[in-house]
Amino acid sequence: MATFGVLIILSLWVLVSAICAWGRPATFVQDFRSTWSESHIKQIDQGRAIQLILDQNSGCGFASRRKYMFGRVSMKIKLIPGDSAGTVTAFYLNSDTDTIHDELDFEFLGNRSGQPYTVQTNIYAHGKGGREQRVNLWFDPALDYHNYTILWNHRHIVFSVDDFPIRVFKNNEDKGVPYPMMQPMGIYSTLWEADNWATRGGLEKINWNKAPFYAYYKDFDIEGCAVPGAANCSSNLSNWWEGPTYQALNAIQNRRYKWVRLNHLIYDYCQDKSRFLVTPPECLAGI
Ligand SMILES: *[C@@H]1O[C@H](CO)[C@@H](O)[C@H](O)[C@H]1NC(C)=O
Ligand SMILES: *[C@@H]1O[C@H](CO)[C@@H](O)[C@H](O)[C@H]1NC(C)=O
Ligand SMILES: *[C@@H]1O[C@H](CO)[C@@H](O)[C@H](O)[C@H]1NC(C)=O
Ligand SMILES: *[C@@H]1O[C@H](CO)[C@@H](O)[C@H](O)[C@H]1NC(C)=O
Repeated sequence: MATFGVLIILSLWVLVSAICAWGRPATFVQDFRSTWSESHIKQIDQGRAIQLILDQNSGCGFASRRKYMFGRVSMKIKLIPGDSAGTVTAFYLNSDTDTIHDELDFEFLGNRSGQPYTVQTNIYAHGKGGREQRVNLWFDPALDYHNYTILWNHRHIVFSVDDFPIRVFKNNEDKGVPYPMMQPMGIYSTLWEADNWATRGGLEKINWNKAPFYAYYKDFDIEGCAVPGAANCSSNLSNWWEGPTYQALNAIQNRRYKWVRLNHLIYDYCQDKSRFLVTPPECLAGI
């Protein structure tokens, strides 16, 4: 009888976990709301995907309904095809606080047809940013959806493109390098015109004859500690994204990361001697 009870509980547990697992990826409205020009965000595929529109009237943006303290966020994005010079599509985490603000950015800088899309990443910690890195993508991000992920835990922050880490920012607070860990962050995305800087430093202007511009998103997946919420976010033990697998890159990820840095990195603030009189501490060897 007791065994039978255990069996029932076990099967129930399996069922419940299966249902929870099916819950992901979520639809747009489950996790997000529009924050700028709702008319330029169109839900498609029964809300499982969206189309963002940029035209001469407006760009648009959306944000998560909740904020999260650590976790992993991923979404699949198909960027503007053809001549996308002067456009910026962004996907970022932001504490949305005025002074001491934290932010983790993925910015996709459009380009002329046939020229490479650039992904810029940046990290603001305790109110200070200026940590830009740029990578040229090794595929055409407008042909198909690709998976863009930000992992944020107590150990490090990892930006990945299709399971290829393109940037790792380690927690070196104990060595005096600021690290975001005091406040939760929301998840944001925007599509806008920024032809004063986006493409070749602003030399390439947006071609409005090609408007409207469209970007597509799907497979929204937020795995994080929602705030306010029940889970213990400050603990580095109780959440899966803090586990051993997520504390360091594995051998394959390491090899991919090196490959990206060697072949596709086109700008790194750490190497920009003209910008910094004093090398930022996180750029020093051994950190
Ligand atoms: C996106 O990448 C993450 C981590 O690299 C992975 O866990 C997730 O399953 C991927 N999502 C999709 C929809 O492929
Ligand atoms: C656009 O293409 C040019 C020429 O290939 C390249 O130098 C640049 O890095 C690309 N990206 C941006 C955002 O300008
Ligand atoms: C959360 O975890 C931290 C670190 O493990 C612990 O010190 C704290 O007591 C926990 N708080 C709650 C409410 O469980
Ligand atoms: C958790 O944090 C404590 C204190 O910051 C540290 O000593 C410990 O090694 C961490 N554990 C893991 C699994 O990261």
